[in-house]
Amino acid sequence: MSNEPLTLRPEWLALLRHAKAMDNVRITDLFKSDLARAHDFTLGLGDVEADFSRNLITEETLSLLCDLARACNLEEWRDQMFSGMAVNRSENRAALHPALRGSCASSLLIDGRPVRDQVDETLAQMEKFDAGFAAGIQGITDIVTLGIGGSTIGPQLAAQALAPFARKGINLHFLSNIDPYSLVTLQGKINPAHTLFIIASKTFTTPETMANAAAFRTWMQEYGPGDRWPAHACAVTGNREAAITFGIKPGHIFHLPEWVGGRFSLWSAIGLPVCLSIGYKNFRKLLDGAAHADKHFQNTPLRQNIPALMGMIGIWHRNFCNYTAQCILPYSDLLAHLPRYIQQLDMESNGKSVNQAGAGVSYKTAPVVFGEVGTNAQHAFLQMLHQGSDIIPCDFIGIRRSPLPYANHQDMLNANLTGQSRALMEGRTDQAAPPHRHFAGNRPSTTIWLNEISPFALGQLLAFYEHKALTQGILWNINSFDQWGVELGKDMALEALQAKRSA
Ligand code: F6P
Repeated sequence: MSNEPLTLRPEWLALLRHAKAMDNVRITDLFKSDLARAHDFTLGLGDVEADFSRNLITEETLSLLCDLARACNLEEWRDQMFSGMAVNRSENRAALHPALRGSCASSLLIDGRPVRDQVDETLAQMEKFDAGFAAGIQGITDIVTLGIGGSTIGPQLAAQALAPFARKGINLHFLSNIDPYSLVTLQGKINPAHTLFIIASKTFTTPETMANAAAFRTWMQEYGPGDRWPAHACAVTGNREAAITFGIKPGHIFHLPEWVGGRFSLWSAIGLPVCLSIGYKNFRKLLDGAAHADKHFQNTPLRQNIPALMGMIGIWHRNFCNYTAQCILPYSDLLAHLPRYIQQLDMESNGKSVNQAGAGVSYKTAPVVFGEVGTNAQHAFLQMLHQGSDIIPCDFIGIRRSPLPYANHQDMLNANLTGQSRALMEGRTDQAAPPHRHFAGNRPSTTIWLNEISPFALGQLLAFYEHKALTQGILWNINSFDQWGVELGKDMALEALQAKRSA
């Protein structure tokens, strides 16, 4: 990228002019003047389809955004990430989560070792563990994952989303918080003799995770007979020594490489609870879906590139329409954790205000991301999205078909989705109605459909969101792979605890 400040670049200025010209345009008029709009602004890949037509965009908008993306070297940065360069500059690390799903060259070396070998080794260990688990499945009825942030949000999302594929008779639990209420409540639900613990922590130093792990280790040891902990505990971590010191058997330690960021780690051994729930074969299909999205992101021209468009339209909303938030609305209880997942992905990756050269940025970066299962949100906070003083773009995510009975319920769910996005776009300004019953409309949204829920489709969807976050980070010229902003609060919490202990 040239040294010219982003906001002075001709491509940025062209978008500013274009945004002014779009000021009084209505999305509904764009549909009227272009009967092919729904078709032309919808892109599909495998079992996933993204409909961008209900955004306030034209072909010119997309063309100008693609110009900006090219000027910011989006494709070059993308290729550098896939090639294993240290794109995480503040930590001098590669960001190789695509390698976890086989999307990087087999010749790629990190620390002198082929990355592919490192990945295959861990996958083979997971496959073997899963086979043993399946064979002795009667023994274990509960799997407790102890971890926080990226070490649990992804697995929790995927485990719930793929519940239709889950083995029967296994209960999954995730404990992140150090709230003693949650700890004791969970202890009341499980039997030490039939529980497997997975301590998921890249660093193996995260206080919340380690405090919960220590509490459960003592609980297991006190329960007896004998010390059940070594047989019933495993760790997913990059800190092998700490895990061994903590009493985890070496054979129960699954390696999490340094080049995998927490919020991008579902595809690594962090996905172990998902693997044990749906079985290794299905877990591989999740990785295959993500790899399919990787290929698309790498090889598709920007105008047809689904995650690049998701990212670029996000830039349009944030920097040229000045919207401050982004709402994520899955119309499926299976995807209930999706808003949290995208929240961490976008806000931890792009909640930065220093650029790659260490200078302060003069433009807005990550918006506030929030959301909820769509139908529930309708009866809670969508009021503000329809009539509030802020315009908040929405992503509607739906599942077209369900194999279950009650087809009528699925129809109602999906009718709610399309009805809401239409209401936001069209509004209703009946002159005879009092002002409080007016809906201004012209509120943008993207709709993403999965044909059905499957490990492959979920893998695609989540990889699209990962690449969306990367696209935005590249255009904002920030490092999407570090998270120094979380450190200060950690230090101060420690100081507060030390002060309390020494009082
Ligand atoms: O504090 C933030 C963070 O480092 C996240 O980026 C990460 O996902 C989470 O904490 C958990 O970290 P760990 O896996 O090291 O316990």
